Amino acid sequence: MLRVVVLVSGGGTNLQAIIDAVSAGRITNAELVGVISNNKTVKSLERARAAEIPAVSVSPKDYEDRDAFYRAFLEKVDGFRPDLIVLAGFLVAVPKQMVQKYEGRIINIHPSLIPSFCGVGYYGLKVHERVLERGVKVTGATVHFVTEGMDEGPILSQKAVYVEEGDTPEILQRRVMEQAEWILLPQAIDDIANGRVRLEGGRCVRTTQRD
Ligand code: GRF
Repeated sequence: MLRVVVLVSGGGTNLQAIIDAVSAGRITNAELVGVISNNKTVKSLERARAAEIPAVSVSPKDYEDRDAFYRAFLEKVDGFRPDLIVLAGFLVAVPKQMVQKYEGRIINIHPSLIPSFCGVGYYGLKVHERVLERGVKVTGATVHFVTEGMDEGPILSQKAVYVEEGDTPEILQRRVMEQAEWILLPQAIDDIANGRVRLEGGRCVRTTQRD
């Protein structure tokens, strides 16, 4: 069983999609062993507790500086002994020490088709605002492995979503979640847990197709 830890910052709809996929048997060979939030009051923690998954928060506000926060955060992560760390709407830059320690074992969901609309400043609703400003007709979501460069790691999967006339950032965000994020992220965990993908020469290669 792959031990999976999910890191969150907000509402946790992606976390919910993962929880639901585990209970429905759409993710196999994986166990959700912990949820960690950088924010004490978020809905994500309630979702985790409702599913009886140990959930903790480590807030930067409780530490004197960034380094102390990062140390405490990494300690919590280590405590769960994860095989895979999933960033599901986690808005903190992942500490370098963590990326190095868990190289090839951290994935992130980003709400655009990387390499478009990603990198510094592209998070949450801002991504969808920029998509609408630029007037592209297709956007989507990407699951990628996390490396030190922001949104630069090997791409595991992507799914396209149409932009429609009259979209607001909120409407588009919802469509990208429904049509792409909530499907891709559970599938990615299932693919890793069942050995269907592997990292090779800086790229993620699919070795077995999904049924
Ligand atoms: C998602 O759009 C995710 O891709 C982005 O932040 C949002 C988080 O939503 N990074 P939720 O907390 O999973 O509801």
